[in-house]
Amino acid sequence: MSTDQIRKVCIVGASGKLGRYMVQHALDRGYEVVGVCRERSVPKLAGCADRITIVPGPTNDREVIRQAVAGCDGVLTVLVPWGVHQYSSGTAQAVLDYAVPDARLVFSCGWHITRDGKDQYSWRFRAAVRIMTRLARFVRVVEIDDQVEACRRIFASDRRWTVVRGSDLEEGESQGLPVWSRHVGDPVLASNLTRRVDFALFMVESLTDDTLIHEAPAIVSCLSPSALAHAADGRSSDPAGNTSGPSGDKP
Ligand SMILES: NC(=O)c1ccc[n+]([C@@H]2O[C@H](COP(=O)([O-])OP(=O)(O)OC[C@H]3O[C@@H](n4cnc5c(N)ncnc54)[C@H](OP(=O)(O)O)[C@@H]3O)[C@@H](O)[C@H]2O)c1
Repeated sequence: MSTDQIRKVCIVGASGKLGRYMVQHALDRGYEVVGVCRERSVPKLAGCADRITIVPGPTNDREVIRQAVAGCDGVLTVLVPWGVHQYSSGTAQAVLDYAVPDARLVFSCGWHITRDGKDQYSWRFRAAVRIMTRLARFVRVVEIDDQVEACRRIFASDRRWTVVRGSDLEEGESQGLPVWSRHVGDPVLASNLTRRVDFALFMVESLTDDTLIHEAPAIVSCLSPSALAHAADGRSSDPAGNTSGPSGDKP
Protein backbone atom coordinates (compact mmCIF):
# COMPACT_ATOMS: atom_id res chain seq x y z
CA MET A 1 0.00 0.00 0.00
CA SER A 2 1.23 3.47 -0.80
CA THR A 3 0.99 5.80 2.16
CA ASP A 4 -0.76 8.45 0.11
CA GLN A 5 -3.75 6.15 0.34
CA ILE A 6 -4.41 6.50 4.05
CA ARG A 7 -8.14 6.53 4.65
CA LYS A 8 -8.78 4.87 7.98
CA VAL A 9 -6.55 5.12 11.05
CA CYS A 10 -6.64 3.58 14.48
CA ILE A 11 -5.40 5.65 17.43
CA VAL A 12 -4.38 3.49 20.36
CA GLY A 13 -4.50 5.56 23.55
CA ALA A 14 -6.92 8.06 22.01
CA SER A 15 -8.22 9.52 25.28
CA GLY A 16 -4.89 10.87 26.58
CA LYS A 17 -3.58 14.35 25.85
CA LEU A 18 -1.43 13.24 22.92
CA GLY A 19 -4.16 10.90 21.71
CA ARG A 20 -6.85 13.57 21.60
CA TYR A 21 -4.60 15.91 19.62
CA MET A 22 -3.93 13.06 17.17
CA VAL A 23 -7.67 12.41 16.82
CA GLN A 24 -8.18 16.05 15.89
CA HIS A 25 -5.32 16.11 13.36
CA ALA A 26 -6.58 12.86 11.81
CA LEU A 27 -10.14 14.19 11.52
CA ASP A 28 -8.79 17.43 10.03
CA ARG A 29 -7.21 15.31 7.27
CA GLY A 30 -10.53 13.60 6.60
CA TYR A 31 -9.44 10.21 7.89
CA GLU A 32 -11.94 7.77 9.32
CA VAL A 33 -10.83 7.30 12.94
CA VAL A 34 -11.08 4.36 15.33
CA GLY A 35 -9.96 5.20 18.88
CA VAL A 36 -8.94 2.72 21.58
CA CYS A 37 -9.00 3.74 25.23
CA ARG A 38 -9.71 2.32 28.63
CA GLU A 39 -13.43 1.95 29.37
CA ARG A 40 -13.27 4.51 32.19
CA SER A 41 -11.75 7.08 29.82
CA VAL A 42 -14.42 6.92 27.10
CA PRO A 43 -16.09 10.14 28.46
CA LYS A 44 -12.83 12.00 27.71
CA LEU A 45 -13.67 11.53 24.02
CA ALA A 46 -17.18 12.98 24.35
CA GLY A 47 -16.25 16.00 22.21
CA CYS A 48 -15.66 13.84 19.13
CA ALA A 49 -17.66 10.69 19.95
CA ASP A 50 -20.08 11.31 17.09
CA ARG A 51 -17.22 11.48 14.56
CA ILE A 52 -15.10 8.48 15.55
CA THR A 53 -15.60 4.82 16.43
CA ILE A 54 -14.51 4.05 19.97
CA VAL A 55 -13.29 0.59 20.97
CA PRO A 56 -13.13 0.55 24.77
CA GLY A 57 -10.63 -1.65 26.58
CA PRO A 58 -7.06 -1.96 27.82
CA THR A 59 -4.63 -1.25 24.99
CA ASN A 60 -2.63 -4.41 25.77
CA ASP A 61 -5.72 -6.59 25.31
CA ARG A 62 -4.94 -8.43 22.07
CA GLU A 63 -8.61 -8.96 21.19
CA VAL A 64 -9.35 -5.24 21.65
CA ILE A 65 -6.45 -4.33 19.34
CA ARG A 66 -7.33 -7.02 16.79
CA GLN A 67 -10.84 -5.61 16.51
CA ALA A 68 -9.72 -1.96 16.45
CA VAL A 69 -6.99 -2.16 13.78
CA ALA A 70 -9.04 -4.22 11.30
CA GLY A 71 -9.10 -2.45 7.95
CA CYS A 72 -6.92 0.47 9.14
CA ASP A 73 -4.26 1.80 6.76
CA GLY A 74 -2.40 3.39 9.66
CA VAL A 75 -2.09 2.84 13.41
CA LEU A 76 -0.90 5.58 15.78
CA THR A 77 0.06 4.13 19.15
CA VAL A 78 0.75 6.05 22.36
CA LEU A 79 3.25 3.83 24.16
CA VAL A 80 2.89 4.35 27.89
CA PRO A 81 4.68 2.42 30.59
CA TRP A 82 1.79 2.25 33.08
CA GLY A 83 1.42 -0.64 35.53
CA VAL A 84 3.68 -3.64 35.93
CA HIS A 85 1.98 -5.98 33.48
CA GLN A 86 3.92 -5.32 30.27
CA TYR A 87 1.43 -2.67 29.18
CA SER A 88 3.74 -1.07 26.59
CA SER A 89 5.20 -4.25 25.13
CA GLY A 90 1.80 -5.96 25.15
CA THR A 91 0.27 -3.03 23.28
CA ALA A 92 3.13 -2.83 20.76
CA GLN A 93 3.12 -6.58 20.14
CA ALA A 94 -0.62 -6.68 19.53
CA VAL A 95 -0.35 -3.81 17.04
CA LEU A 96 2.59 -5.49 15.27
CA ASP A 97 0.70 -8.79 15.14
CA TYR A 98 -2.74 -7.60 14.06
CA ALA A 99 -2.35 -4.47 11.93
CA VAL A 100 -3.07 -5.14 8.24
CA PRO A 101 0.10 -6.24 6.42
CA ASP A 102 1.13 -2.95 4.76
CA ALA A 103 -0.25 -0.57 7.37
CA ARG A 104 1.88 2.39 8.49
CA LEU A 105 2.58 1.97 12.20
CA VAL A 106 3.67 5.03 14.22
CA PHE A 107 4.55 4.77 17.91
CA SER A 108 5.28 7.48 20.49
CA CYS A 109 7.91 7.45 23.21
CA GLY A 110 10.50 9.75 24.74
CA TRP A 111 14.13 10.60 24.08
CA HIS A 112 15.24 7.97 26.62
CA ILE A 113 14.62 5.27 23.99
CA THR A 114 17.69 4.71 21.84
CA ARG A 115 17.68 2.74 18.63
CA ASP A 116 21.37 2.34 17.93
CA GLY A 117 23.03 3.42 21.17
CA LYS A 118 24.53 6.50 19.50
CA ASP A 119 22.42 9.05 21.34
CA GLN A 120 24.46 11.39 23.53
CA TYR A 121 22.59 12.14 26.74
CA SER A 122 23.56 14.76 29.28
CA TRP A 123 24.47 13.45 32.73
CA ARG A 124 21.39 15.24 34.05
CA PHE A 125 19.12 13.38 31.58
CA ARG A 126 20.74 10.02 32.32
CA ALA A 127 20.43 10.56 36.06
CA ALA A 128 16.77 11.53 35.75
CA VAL A 129 15.94 8.41 33.71
CA ARG A 130 17.88 6.17 36.11
CA ILE A 131 16.09 7.60 39.14
CA MET A 132 12.69 7.46 37.44
CA THR A 133 13.23 3.85 36.36
CA ARG A 134 14.27 2.69 39.85
CA LEU A 135 11.58 4.68 41.61
CA ALA A 136 8.94 3.41 39.21
CA ARG A 137 10.04 -0.18 39.75
CA PHE A 138 9.87 0.36 43.50
CA VAL A 139 6.37 1.86 43.60
CA ARG A 140 5.14 -0.59 40.92
CA VAL A 141 3.05 2.00 39.07
CA VAL A 142 5.17 2.54 36.01
CA GLU A 143 7.45 0.14 34.11
CA ILE A 144 9.89 2.17 32.04
CA ASP A 145 11.93 -0.96 31.18
CA ASP A 146 8.84 -2.29 29.44
CA GLN A 147 8.64 0.74 27.14
CA VAL A 148 12.26 -0.04 26.22
CA GLU A 149 11.26 -3.65 25.51
CA ALA A 150 8.30 -2.48 23.41
CA CYS A 151 10.62 -0.39 21.24
CA ARG A 152 13.16 -3.21 20.97
CA ARG A 153 10.43 -5.38 19.46
CA ILE A 154 9.34 -2.61 17.08
CA PHE A 155 12.92 -1.97 15.92
CA ALA A 156 13.33 -5.70 15.24
CA SER A 157 10.13 -5.85 13.20
CA ASP A 158 9.93 -5.68 9.43
CA ARG A 159 6.59 -3.85 9.60
CA ARG A 160 6.42 -0.29 8.19
CA TRP A 161 7.10 1.42 11.52
CA THR A 162 8.25 4.80 12.79
CA VAL A 163 9.04 5.45 16.47
CA VAL A 164 8.69 9.16 17.24
CA ARG A 165 10.78 10.19 20.24
CA GLY A 166 9.33 13.22 22.00
CA SER A 167 11.38 15.83 23.85
CA ASP A 168 10.05 17.49 27.01
CA LEU A 169 6.52 18.63 26.24
CA GLU A 170 4.49 21.77 26.88
CA GLU A 171 0.95 22.84 26.10
CA GLY A 172 0.11 25.74 23.80
CA GLU A 173 -0.88 26.69 20.27
CA SER A 174 0.76 24.85 17.40
CA GLN A 175 4.12 26.19 16.26
CA GLY A 176 4.22 23.97 13.18
CA LEU A 177 5.71 20.62 12.35
CA PRO A 178 8.70 19.83 14.61
CA VAL A 179 12.14 19.24 13.14
CA TRP A 180 13.93 16.00 13.87
CA SER A 181 17.26 14.35 14.13
CA ARG A 182 18.48 10.77 14.43
CA HIS A 183 20.41 11.23 17.61
CA VAL A 184 19.76 12.98 20.89
CA GLY A 185 22.80 15.18 21.42
CA ASP A 186 22.68 16.63 17.90
CA PRO A 187 22.77 20.44 18.28
CA VAL A 188 19.43 21.01 16.57
CA LEU A 189 17.69 19.24 19.47
CA ALA A 190 19.41 21.13 22.28
CA SER A 191 16.33 23.13 23.32
CA ASN A 192 14.54 19.90 24.28
CA LEU A 193 11.02 21.30 24.06
CA THR A 194 8.02 20.62 21.82
CA ARG A 195 4.36 21.56 22.05
CA ARG A 196 2.28 18.45 22.62
CA VAL A 197 -0.07 19.43 19.80
CA ASP A 198 2.93 19.42 17.44
CA PHE A 199 4.18 16.05 18.72
CA ALA A 200 0.74 14.79 17.65
CA LEU A 201 1.08 16.59 14.32
CA PHE A 202 4.41 14.85 13.66
CA MET A 203 2.86 11.47 14.52
CA VAL A 204 -0.01 11.97 12.07
CA GLU A 205 2.24 13.46 9.38
CA SER A 206 4.48 10.39 9.65
CA LEU A 207 1.66 8.24 8.30
CA THR A 208 2.22 9.67 4.83
CA ASP A 209 5.96 10.29 4.97
CA ASP A 210 7.69 7.18 3.65
CA THR A 211 11.13 8.66 4.39
CA LEU A 212 10.34 8.06 8.07
CA ILE A 213 9.81 4.31 7.67
CA HIS A 214 12.27 2.46 9.93
CA GLU A 215 13.41 5.72 11.54
CA ALA A 216 13.25 6.77 15.19
CA PRO A 217 13.19 10.56 14.83
CA ALA A 218 13.90 12.60 17.96
CA ILE A 219 11.87 15.78 17.62
CA VAL A 220 12.01 19.38 18.81
CA SER A 221 9.88 22.45 18.14
CA CYS A 222 10.67 24.11 14.81
CA LEU A 223 10.61 27.46 16.63
CA SER A 224 12.88 26.43 19.48
CA PRO A 225 16.16 28.36 19.78
CA SER A 226 18.24 25.32 18.84
CA ALA A 227 16.16 24.60 15.72
CA LEU A 228 16.27 28.24 14.64
CA ALA A 229 20.02 28.46 15.24
CA HIS A 230 20.58 25.32 13.25
CA ALA A 231 18.41 26.58 10.41
CA ALA A 232 20.36 29.83 10.36
CA ASP A 233 23.52 27.77 9.99
CA GLY A 234 21.94 26.25 6.91
CA ARG A 235 22.50 22.75 8.21
CA SER A 236 18.99 21.97 9.38
CA SER A 237 15.90 20.51 7.83
CA ASP A 238 13.38 23.25 7.07
CA PRO A 239 12.30 24.83 10.38
CA ALA A 240 9.08 25.98 8.76
CA GLY A 241 8.15 22.37 8.97
CA ASN A 242 9.17 19.59 6.71
CA THR A 243 10.50 16.20 7.50
CA SER A 244 12.30 15.69 4.25
CA GLY A 245 15.59 15.06 5.94
CA PRO A 246 17.05 14.69 9.38
CA SER A 247 19.89 16.51 10.98
CA GLY A 248 22.76 14.33 12.11
CA ASP A 249 24.29 11.09 10.99
CA LYS A 250 22.88 7.90 9.59
CA PRO A 251 22.24 5.23 12.22
N1 LIG B 1 5.04 13.72 29.31
C1 LIG B 1 6.18 14.01 28.75
O1 LIG B 1 6.89 14.95 29.16
C2 LIG B 1 6.68 13.20 27.56
C3 LIG B 1 7.91 13.54 27.01
C4 LIG B 1 8.36 12.85 25.89
C5 LIG B 1 7.60 11.82 25.36
N2 LIG B 1 6.41 11.49 25.94
C6 LIG B 1 5.65 10.40 25.33
O2 LIG B 1 4.41 10.95 24.92
C7 LIG B 1 3.41 9.97 24.96
C8 LIG B 1 2.21 10.54 25.68
O3 LIG B 1 2.55 10.82 26.99
P1 LIG B 1 1.95 12.03 27.81
O4 LIG B 1 2.78 12.14 29.05
O5 LIG B 1 1.83 13.21 26.93
O6 LIG B 1 0.56 11.54 28.32
P2 LIG B 1 -0.86 11.42 27.65
O7 LIG B 1 -0.83 11.90 26.25
O8 LIG B 1 -1.85 12.04 28.53
O9 LIG B 1 -1.08 9.87 27.61
C9 LIG B 1 -1.17 9.11 28.76
C10 LIG B 1 -1.79 7.79 28.34
O10 LIG B 1 -1.62 6.86 29.39
C11 LIG B 1 -2.86 6.26 29.68
N3 LIG B 1 -2.91 5.90 31.09
C12 LIG B 1 -2.88 6.72 32.15
N4 LIG B 1 -2.91 5.99 33.29
C13 LIG B 1 -2.96 4.69 32.92
C14 LIG B 1 -3.00 3.46 33.61
N5 LIG B 1 -2.99 3.40 34.93
N6 LIG B 1 -3.05 2.32 32.89
C15 LIG B 1 -3.07 2.35 31.55
N7 LIG B 1 -3.02 3.50 30.83
C16 LIG B 1 -2.97 4.64 31.51
C17 LIG B 1 -3.86 7.30 29.34
O11 LIG B 1 -5.09 6.70 29.10
P3 LIG B 1 -6.42 7.22 29.81
O12 LIG B 1 -6.92 8.36 28.96
O13 LIG B 1 -7.26 6.02 29.78
O14 LIG B 1 -6.08 7.67 31.21
C18 LIG B 1 -3.26 7.90 28.08
O15 LIG B 1 -3.57 7.14 26.92
C19 LIG B 1 4.05 8.73 25.58
O16 LIG B 1 4.43 7.84 24.57
C20 LIG B 1 5.29 9.28 26.27
O17 LIG B 1 6.31 8.30 26.35
C21 LIG B 1 5.94 12.16 27.02
